Amino acid sequence: MRSLLKPAHYHDPVIFRQECERIFRRVWMLAAIRPMLAKHLDFRTIEIGGVPVLLQNFEGRIRAYANICRHRLSRIHMLEFGNAPLACPYHQWAYDADGVLEAVPSNSELFQYSPEQMRAIRLREYKVEVVGGLVFVNLDTAPLPIDQQFSPELLAVLARDTSHMDDEYIHTRYTAGLNWKTGIENIKDPLHVQCLHRDSFPSNIDTSNSLRTAPPMDHDAPPPRAAMPLAAVSTVWDVPIAGRSPHAWYDLVENLESKNFYRGVHLFPNVNLMIVAGTSFSVQIYNPLDADRTEMHMSVALTRPVADFGYKPVVLWEHLQSDMSVLKEDLDCLEAMQRGVRAAEFDIQHGAYEGGIISYHTAYLDLLERD
Ligand code: FES
Ligand SMILES: [Fe+2]
Repeated sequence: MRSLLKPAHYHDPVIFRQECERIFRRVWMLAAIRPMLAKHLDFRTIEIGGVPVLLQNFEGRIRAYANICRHRLSRIHMLEFGNAPLACPYHQWAYDADGVLEAVPSNSELFQYSPEQMRAIRLREYKVEVVGGLVFVNLDTAPLPIDQQFSPELLAVLARDTSHMDDEYIHTRYTAGLNWKTGIENIKDPLHVQCLHRDSFPSNIDTSNSLRTAPPMDHDAPPPRAAMPLAAVSTVWDVPIAGRSPHAWYDLVENLESKNFYRGVHLFPNVNLMIVAGTSFSVQIYNPLDADRTEMHMSVALTRPVADFGYKPVVLWEHLQSDMSVLKEDLDCLEAMQRGVRAAEFDIQHGAYEGGIISYHTAYLDLLERD
């Protein structure tokens, strides 16, 4: 059947601007994992829907602000990660934990702001929700309740599982030449694992169990636009691991109840979370930069240690390398697809098994087309 989305949805800069305004700056976006902000003054920066955002730990509470100084709009934190007070390096305006302008060097001679005027100058703050080890931010002035975006059942799974996330993690980020949606469609497509990753994906994880087909549909028309509650689009699927591989380090960390499963969680709009064998978390954020470029944020953490685990950095490193080698195969196809959608004079075709992608398109269009 024809896709609900046209090729232009994957490369048109006008549609990308609409996505920024109506999706990325309106819904809850995963911005960090808790270990990135473990200590007082730890910060992390990320651009969301074109807006530079900083997240920072103040005495255990995580706050989010526009990473834009109120003086001449430079950046307050220039690095992606760090531990520093909330002060802009350009002319050293400093802000307190509430984002209120607290100190201006040489104020009485050079700037001449009264204390009242300074108190009225504050950073733009955004709402934060911490769910287990996941830190979400919402850039809307009146954010939708997070349980309208994710079902209470899903939030309970996330809180329960990711609260076991260890404090140590490994992280990388790189930019790929693809539209963010193709990355999300890819994780909602269990068939490609058997085809593209035949040699690289662990053979004891059989994703064919996740393949479902819908009733036959008209292949010459788009699928009907059924009502799709936003909370129904984010999904959890458990794939049994046949003959759980006997990594010795499994005995050195907490084992979650999903220890015999590969648990994949897709969080609308742009997150792929994998909990492998109940012992590790692999978090991938497909962060859109523009219609043709997506910044991949990849983080890996294990569950908390229960015994001395001196070689944990090696396990984290190998885990990330393994994730990246599988993802490299995806990216070769997805970057080719990006060239395809730019050149094609015909529509994308879906099949009966691609119901997850179609549901995602429906929810996406509901948000994109609303006033
Ligand atoms: S722009 Fe930040 S202090 Fe001047
Ligand atoms: Fe893949």
